[in-house]
Amino acid sequence: MRSSLPWFQSPRFPLYLAPMAGVSDKIFRQFCKERGADVLVTEFVSAEGVFRRNERTRGYLDFDECERPIGVQLFGGNAEHMAEAAKQVVDWVRPDFIDLNFGCPVNKVVAKNGGSALLKDCPTLAAVAEAVVRAVAPLPVTAKIRIGWDADSINASRVAKILEETGIQAVAVHGRTRAQGYSGEADWKVIGEVVQAVSIPVIGNGDLTSGEEVIRRRTETGIAGAMIGRAAMSAPWIFNQVKHYFATGEQLASPGIEEKWALIQRHCQLAIEEWGREDQAIRSMRARLMAYSKGFPNGKLLREKFQHVSSLHEINEIASEHLMVGRDSVESSVSRSGSTESRPTNLLSID
Ligand SMILES: Cc1cc2nc3c(=O)[nH]c(=O)nc-3n(C[C@H](O)[C@H](O)[C@H](O)COP(=O)(O)O)c2cc1C
Repeated sequence: MRSSLPWFQSPRFPLYLAPMAGVSDKIFRQFCKERGADVLVTEFVSAEGVFRRNERTRGYLDFDECERPIGVQLFGGNAEHMAEAAKQVVDWVRPDFIDLNFGCPVNKVVAKNGGSALLKDCPTLAAVAEAVVRAVAPLPVTAKIRIGWDADSINASRVAKILEETGIQAVAVHGRTRAQGYSGEADWKVIGEVVQAVSIPVIGNGDLTSGEEVIRRRTETGIAGAMIGRAAMSAPWIFNQVKHYFATGEQLASPGIEEKWALIQRHCQLAIEEWGREDQAIRSMRARLMAYSKGFPNGKLLREKFQHVSSLHEINEIASEHLMVGRDSVESSVSRSGSTESRPTNLLSID
């Protein structure tokens, strides 16, 4: 593998937070960075939106210095527009790299020949990559792909080779086809084939949920880095857990429930500051609260409550009540067992 990207020299096996529209905003990216993520990527941004310079697009591009190295992810199917948009983004926010989205399965994007549609149209994919590489040089450009359009057209190795030839400096491969959406399992065999096909770094992506799994996939495929998405939505500390497992071969326990609630409350507080409107901010947090509370005791009840929240006060009340019930049930189980030992805090620490 050859790479001029510094984050493949140190820490050598970088952990990426996957770009996730509606999830990997500035607040969440920073949470993940504080918890071990090495490389961040913004939510995808439409090249056309960049032209229109609308507020919303501008918001997606916003990041803080502490997030570096960070890439801005662009999507679009028109080479000229993509190149112009990439140049504008570089002028505005000076990211560490531009990432091209060739994997998005969403109809709205695919219909405009963006995202994974380009996996079916290699000449246009090459034209887009080449134009963006030329437009922003010497700033590095990377790409994110799926393994193919559908099971009959798996072409990730060919696509990765084309991208390498255009000057793309690393490629992240999500081991699913466009047709799969998020169903089934990621095909890591194909990811391994991509590693063999190119000499640029390949970042493996799909269904990674633990350090053990990342090591197994790395050994099987020879990937140069790993990208984690959905697992981080409910456990942003997963990056530190992966690193701990790499260093020691042991699992690092997840934070206790109090710490998890503190993180949720902090996220809500920061979202309010970001939005400037508490009700809007908390409503926008509902889906995030569902993800954060995955695996919490009484999760079903919590999720029902989260569907209706619109203020931080309500979140704080739910947290206090939930922690109180947790403590009561631990105490009653201790008194039932007649134990005089210290509180079994592991009952409060649930993945
Ligand atoms: C809510 C959500 C939003 C996503 N948005 C993007 C995106 O903007 N750009 C992109 O390249 N991939 C996007 N993805 C795909 C992820 O980056 C990643 O490839 C996928 O979730 C598989 O990784 P995982 O199994 O670790 O979650 C998104 C996924 C989810 C769940």
